[in-house]
Amino acid sequence: MSTTAPSTTYSPGLEGVVAGETAVSTVEDGLRYRGYAVGDLCEHASFDEVAFLLLYGELPTTTELEAFRQRVAMARRLPEPVRQLFSTLPKWSTPLDVLRTAVSALAHFDQDVADNSPEANLRKAERLLAQMPVAIADHYRISRGMQPVLARQELSHAANFLYMLRGVEPSVADVKALDVSLILYAEHEFNASTFTARVIVSTQADLHAAIVGAIGALKGPLHGGANEKVMDVLLASGGPSTAEAWIRAALARKERIMGFGHRVYKAGDVRAGILKAYAKQAASDPGLLAWEETADTIERVMASEKNMHPNLDWPAGRLYHAMQLDIPLYTPMFAMSRITGWAAHVIEQLANNRLIRPRSIYKGQAARVVKPIGERG
Ligand SMILES: CC(C)(COP(=O)(O)OP(=O)(O)OC[C@H]1O[C@@H](n2cnc3c(N)ncnc32)[C@H](O)[C@@H]1OP(=O)(O)O)[C@@H](O)C(=O)NCCC(=O)NCCS
Repeated sequence: MSTTAPSTTYSPGLEGVVAGETAVSTVEDGLRYRGYAVGDLCEHASFDEVAFLLLYGELPTTTELEAFRQRVAMARRLPEPVRQLFSTLPKWSTPLDVLRTAVSALAHFDQDVADNSPEANLRKAERLLAQMPVAIADHYRISRGMQPVLARQELSHAANFLYMLRGVEPSVADVKALDVSLILYAEHEFNASTFTARVIVSTQADLHAAIVGAIGALKGPLHGGANEKVMDVLLASGGPSTAEAWIRAALARKERIMGFGHRVYKAGDVRAGILKAYAKQAASDPGLLAWEETADTIERVMASEKNMHPNLDWPAGRLYHAMQLDIPLYTPMFAMSRITGWAAHVIEQLANNRLIRPRSIYKGQAARVVKPIGERG
C-alpha cells in the first residue's frame, strides 16, 4: 500500500499556511475587496454595490446596480413551508441556528440547487442574499407573536432588513451605520467559515450545502459569534467606573476578551477603526455613551497589558446594541452580509477545483490486532 507522503511541517490551527489562491480579497496591506480598500468602499459605495462587486468582480454601473437590486428585491420572500417551519421550532432555538435551518430548507425549494455552473450559482447567491434577511426578520417577529412584515422592494439591503424587523421606516443614520457594518462584514479571505464553504464545495456539493456549513462555522465565539459576546464583556465590566479594575482582573484570570485579537492582524484591524466612529455616533444618549467610555477603557488596558487590539466585532456589537437590536440577531446579521463573500469563494473554488483533503500526524495506538469479543475479558 502506498500513500502520498505528507508534508513534514505542521502548523496548529493552520496558522500561516497558504491553503489556496483567491482573487476575491486580500488582507495584505489592509483589507481589499477585488482591489478596493474597504475604507474607500465604505466612503464611496453602498453594501448593495459591494455585494455586486464581490459576486461579479467589478463595481456596477448605475444600470447594472438597478437591475441587480431589482432581481434581489423580487426574491425577498420565503416559500410558505419555510415560513411555517419557524412556528414549529422550539422557543429556545437561537436566531443563528434558525437561519442555518432556513438556508437548508430553502435548498429544497430552489430549482437550481444541483446546478453548479457559475450562472446558476450567481442566481442562487442573489436569492440567498434576498432570502436570508427575510428569514431572520420573519422568525424574529413570529417567535414574538408578531405578524411578519412584507419586504419593500425599493429599499436597500440594510434599510429593508431594519424595516422588516421593526415594521417602521428606519432612520437615515441607522441605515448608513448598518450599511457600513455590512460592507465590513462582507468578505475576509480564508477565514474559518469561508474555508468551510470552500472545503464543502470542493467535493462538488452545492452552494446551499456550503452556506449551511459556513453558517455553522460562523456560530462559534472565536469567529462570528464574538459580536454577540461583546455586550457580555461590557455588561460584566459594570460600566466606566469599574471597567479598569474588571479588565485587569479578567486578564489576571487569563480570560479571553471577546472582540479582541485576530489570527492575522496583530497590530489592529482596519475595519474596527472604521466602524468605531459609527458606534460612537449611534450612542448619542447618556446611557449608551457610558458603554463607549467603558469600551475605551478596556481598549486602553488591552493595548497596554496584552498589546492586543479590537477586531471588527468590538464596535459592531456596540453599534447594534446602540441601534436597540436584540443581541442574538448580531451573528445572523453578519451572515446576511457574508453570504456575498461565501458565494464568491464557492464560485471561485469551483472554477478551478481540486478536492481539499489534507493529511494529519497520527498520535494514536500502535498497530494492534482485534481480539474476538469473547476474549476481551
Ligand atoms: C481571534 C482569535 C481566536 C485568534 O487567536 P490566535 O491567533 O489563534 O491566538 P491563540 O488563540 O492561539 O492565542 C494566543 C495567546 O493570546 C491570548 N489571546 C488571544 N486572544 C485573546 C483575547 N481576545 N483576550 C485575551 N487573550 C487572548 C491567548 O489566551 C493565548 O495566550 P497564551 O499564549 O498565554 O495561552 C483570538 O484572538 C480570540 O479568541 N479572540 C476573541 C474572540 C474574537 O473576538 N473573535 C473574533 C475574531 S475576528
